[in-house]
Amino acid sequence: MYNSKIIGLGHYVPDNVVTNDDLSKVMDTNDAWIQERTGIKERRHVVSGDGDTTTTMGVKAAKIAIERAGIDKDDIDFIVFATLSPDYYFPGPGVLVQRDLGIKTVGALDVRNQCSGFVYAISVADQYIKTGMYKNILVIGSELHSHGLDMTTRGRGVSVIFGDGAGAAILSREEDNSKGILSTHLHSEGQHAEELSLIAPGMGKRWVNDIIADNDPNDESYYPYMNGQFVFKNAVVRFSEVIIEGLEKNKLKSTDIDLLVPHQANLRISQFIQKKFQLTDDQVFNNIMKYGNTTAASIPIALTEAWEEGKVKDGDLVVLAAFGSGFTWGSVIIRW
Ligand code: UT7
Repeated sequence: MYNSKIIGLGHYVPDNVVTNDDLSKVMDTNDAWIQERTGIKERRHVVSGDGDTTTTMGVKAAKIAIERAGIDKDDIDFIVFATLSPDYYFPGPGVLVQRDLGIKTVGALDVRNQCSGFVYAISVADQYIKTGMYKNILVIGSELHSHGLDMTTRGRGVSVIFGDGAGAAILSREEDNSKGILSTHLHSEGQHAEELSLIAPGMGKRWVNDIIADNDPNDESYYPYMNGQFVFKNAVVRFSEVIIEGLEKNKLKSTDIDLLVPHQANLRISQFIQKKFQLTDDQVFNNIMKYGNTTAASIPIALTEAWEEGKVKDGDLVVLAAFGSGFTWGSVIIRW
């Protein structure tokens, strides 16, 4: 059995910065509310027609990760792509990355686990490397939220939170079992599936023919819905649980954590976790202020920025943790 380790990271965000004041021009919201409740100051939105999609952003992040890993695209044995905002209903973006990067005909898998998507994707890639089946795996988290949000006052509880962007990692074989990804921990609770969801279009409740027949501008099922307070309450509990689970599995304590990179759902959630585990500001990486919540892209963007800022060093204990729609949640324990 091998371990896997992250040997290259990259991220890409669109140039277009949307501030809280920009949003207050199109809906009844304000900078003070958004900052106080979420910590977000601005986010990036793809400008319609400028060519960026979930896939192209993922490809841009992937190119940087591949270069930093010091490998060739043809060394990649498998692709895992996590997103809730694919370019097409099907096929998923994994195959589009294989095409756009000109990678040989390796397997490409799409992961549908929203905010936990990158943690799930890393876990999948880690298993393939552990068994020796693959040596180098490209893992991408990318989201284009802005084209699907309700940018009116009706949607303000959700639309001020989400932003666009992508992050990517190259996972590679590590022969030293004390290094790299030590363990991953995944959970779900489908009982709360609709508490944070986008119901239509879907083959379950909204058939395409219904949508065309309806053409109802008041139908909110085409927009993301979030029961914010309920999600918040579950998030703080599950984040804590799954971090503890990962630490205990490896006989570690919270004082062993060098860097926690939580999914960027809400600065208040990160601060709650920081306090609970008695971590310093330097031990928790947050960038939600700049990008909002980019769901599956948030951890790889944050991890890339932390690495670029020299906050991830050889031998560090790095913990990734996520919670979101599904509900799904998970953690990754890494000895860098
Ligand atoms: O990433 C996946 C996981 N996601 C999360 O973990 C997110 C968890 N939830 C949250 O972060 C928070 O619940 C939110 C930031 C989404 C909302 O904060 P909140 O403190 O729970 O606010 P609320 O939904 O209870 O709304 C409070 C008030 C309401 O007005 P009334 O009923 O008190 O008059 C809302 O209508 O704030 C109003 N409101 C807004 N006001 C200005 C809701 N959205 C906005 C807005 N601007 N954008």
